[in-house]
Amino acid sequence: MNNSLLKTYPYELAPLGYEFDALEPYIDARTVEVHHTKHHQNYVNNLNRIIEENPEYKNWTIQKFCQEERYIPGDIRDELLQNAGGVYNHELYFASMTPDAPGQPEGDLMDNMADYFGSYEEMKVEFKRLALWLFGSGYVHLAATPQSWLQIITQKNQEIAHQSFTPLVTLDVWEHAYYLKNENRRADYFEAWWNTINWKRAEKIYEEIYAKNKPFEFDF
Ligand SMILES: [Fe+2]
Repeated sequence: MNNSLLKTYPYELAPLGYEFDALEPYIDARTVEVHHTKHHQNYVNNLNRIIEENPEYKNWTIQKFCQEERYIPGDIRDELLQNAGGVYNHELYFASMTPDAPGQPEGDLMDNMADYFGSYEEMKVEFKRLALWLFGSGYVHLAATPQSWLQIITQKNQEIAHQSFTPLVTLDVWEHAYYLKNENRRADYFEAWWNTINWKRAEKIYEEIYAKNKPFEFDF
């Protein structure tokens, strides 16, 4: 799995992996195009510009920006971290969608949802509740801990998910992700977006975490 947290300067716009209109009718082509080529691209451009102005960060990964943020001078810290987050979070979001969405997960990811949420359906209820609850802009993730525990987590603005969580599925709830089609109706956007989730990718990431830790296998 390509880990965007380990990327360094120069940053590039990650390819979508599908056409702008491929997520129709759930996410419209114009929204995907503007979101990817304007919003996501702007974060990439801004991050590169900041690093060109501060070349001591040329070899820092996005992960290092997060882990060592206290060493970054206050006058550039927020701008650097918010743009690094803008690059990383958008990569997660666009990779979380596919035109070939399988509908729901399978395997260990599906099986373990019962332990953490009660069921797949209850996981969706919790995901939606937090997506609508999150005030202003940010992201909602279905995420796994290193012990393969599952949790829904939220982040404000372009914060980056805490290192102890690996996002499996990421939803962008900034208005630019849905306003052209859904205007202010975030719930409509959520229900449409739910049909695009790339569960195969989520399963693959989860299997890697699960295989490493085998949390329910004990050697007596
Ligand atoms: Fe966005």
